[in-house]
Amino acid sequence: MEEKQEQQAVTMPRIGDAAPAFKAITTQGEINFPKDYSGGWVILFSHPADFTPVCTSEFMTFAHMEEQYEKANCKLVGLSVDGLYSHIAWLRTIKEKIEYKGMKDIEVTFPLIEDITMEVAKKYGMIQPGEDTTKAVRAVFFIDPKGIIRTIIYYPLSLGRNFDELYRVLIALKTADEFSIATPADWRPGDDVIVPPAGSCGTAKDRMEGKEEDVTCYDWFFCTKKLDKEKVLKAVLKK
Ligand code: BEZ
Repeated sequence: MEEKQEQQAVTMPRIGDAAPAFKAITTQGEINFPKDYSGGWVILFSHPADFTPVCTSEFMTFAHMEEQYEKANCKLVGLSVDGLYSHIAWLRTIKEKIEYKGMKDIEVTFPLIEDITMEVAKKYGMIQPGEDTTKAVRAVFFIDPKGIIRTIIYYPLSLGRNFDELYRVLIALKTADEFSIATPADWRPGDDVIVPPAGSCGTAKDRMEGKEEDVTCYDWFFCTKKLDKEKVLKAVLKK
């Protein structure tokens, strides 16, 4: 068979696409993705390699925050193109030996996919040859309860992710779904949210004249309203 035919196509999923399906071996047994996660949110993320410092700091941070994500009904699934035994050895080392920024005895209990063939990494556009031909970049896919990709973030090999930001993204996505609003720059629960744009000249006029209760307009197309932090958290946690 010609080499060209043997090569697996590299695809770049897009926001709004159904998450590409796959079955894989992980450190927590076999998974059928995204089917096993339907009904809840899941973050699929890749890292370049086991036993590397940036990845170790990331895994410790993510594992440390897992309960927080769990409360937001979101599971975590990691991936690298390393094999299962490398994954197991690395996670054991993290638990037994690494103390970092006050975190120690960290047990990674979410699944870590072995992907030596790069089958999954290629399906998710995680191999980006300009960065590295054999290591996955730091990709993050937010997948909703219907298996739809809702946010994609890619980072290069040298840049450790900000896990508070990833959590903020999850909560903002869930808040937008729950309250049919949008979230402005740097939004956090408790901050004002953006109301859908005026759909008629009448609504635009009413808003600018202050006739819509609780709505503040900076111009007719840019209006916000208050949304209590407690209301947001009640709606998005464990849903
Ligand atoms: C790291 O995780 O430290 C790392 C991995 C691959 C390339 C560069 C850094």
